[in-house]
Amino acid sequence: MSAVLRFPPGFLWGVSTSAYQIEGSLQADGRGPTIWDRFCAEAGRIAHGDTAAVACDHYRRYQQDVALLAGLGVGAYRFSIAWSRLQPEGRGPFKREGLAFYSRLVDELLAQGISPMPTLYHWDLPQALQDAGGWQHRDTAARFAEFAQGMARQLGDRVPRWITHNETFEHTVLGHALGTHAPGLTLGLDSFAVAHHLLLSHGLAVQALRAHLPGAAQVGIAQSMAPARPATGRAEDHAAAHLLHLLQEGIHCEPLLRGRYPEELATLGIDLSAIHAGDEATIAQRLDFFGINYYNPTHVQATPPGSPVPLREAEAPAHHERTEMGWPVIPQGLSELLLGLKQRHGDALPPLVITENGAAMPDALEAGGVDDPRRVAYLEQHLQALRTAMDGGVDVQGYFVWSLLDNFEWAEGYRPRFGLVHVDYATQRRTPKRSYHWYRDLIAAQA
Ligand code: FCB
Repeated sequence: MSAVLRFPPGFLWGVSTSAYQIEGSLQADGRGPTIWDRFCAEAGRIAHGDTAAVACDHYRRYQQDVALLAGLGVGAYRFSIAWSRLQPEGRGPFKREGLAFYSRLVDELLAQGISPMPTLYHWDLPQALQDAGGWQHRDTAARFAEFAQGMARQLGDRVPRWITHNETFEHTVLGHALGTHAPGLTLGLDSFAVAHHLLLSHGLAVQALRAHLPGAAQVGIAQSMAPARPATGRAEDHAAAHLLHLLQEGIHCEPLLRGRYPEELATLGIDLSAIHAGDEATIAQRLDFFGINYYNPTHVQATPPGSPVPLREAEAPAHHERTEMGWPVIPQGLSELLLGLKQRHGDALPPLVITENGAAMPDALEAGGVDDPRRVAYLEQHLQALRTAMDGGVDVQGYFVWSLLDNFEWAEGYRPRFGLVHVDYATQRRTPKRSYHWYRDLIAAQA
């Protein structure tokens, strides 16, 4: 083990998943439909017509998956709770069956010495709330806070760390600005109201959680963050990179940490009327940790004047290795990001947790195993970059690999495989990859 891959005692090692991507059993036990069920049913939305109907069948095989977590030796497991299993229409009394599932999962984790870290919203809005206006509608924020409160009441005695949202930026942009994710809206920059209501709901949920959780419980959020790089040296591409930074870190990080949106937002001609007096203070609840999901820097290019959106993602320079998602492998983007956050936000920055990092690689099941040296290299290089940032003074308290299992990768369907564990979707057979064993050994070597 190289000396650089040593982390402080108490550092939290984990893996992440999300409900919609692994659970399946979409009709079981009175679960209500979500925006992703609707989206997957529309022709042409998901690669190869894949759906999450079965996924990893985790809803029925969770014990086997917890055993895999135990074998890995992780200290914590980040999963998400499917709102519509609890409140099928996003409001009203909680369903006993849904509670029983997550309660059993939590108990199973605790029995193995693994700390449960649920995310309350990983993009699976109950369809009934979408029909009532979804995240464009302010009332959805109140509904989410109610859901958070109910979960705190039910699991608060056993769950030490909570995450409100996963990636409000991606959910806003892919789901509501560009329409490549559910609910498939193409609002362009008018999607700001969605971003605002997601952030507002976070603030309200933090208040609701803290009102019902024991004092020691920790509350955070998981945000996608990435350095924005101009695709070329042209001035308009530099301006596009600046704009992306404003739209991502400016909107989805600054109000959380500083209690106000960047002033520059007002110069973009975006409709900001969703912001009511007092909202920014509500959003800026104290955070016990700030979760960062990092995959790669974003290369960005200006679009021609008059285009519906002023920028688009560009190809990374050709010399970078690419994953099966087509994403460039640029580990130093992680240290650049973390050191930059520290520099820009200083003491306002809570302790960080890397809540997602990982790679889809061209895995093949051969002779009963999966040899995935490129994933091992990806993880090792990103952990080195993390170490660099920590040596530079950034307080990082944990690291979670995306993902435990190969799973339903949203609009890309099942083709990209992100797991430390291979899933044969025909048989549901799980096979730990070389990267699983590598991560297990790394965690064990820290002790
Ligand atoms: C993140 C999502 C996660 C997964 C990874 C690859 O943006 O949070 O669900 O799809 O990307």
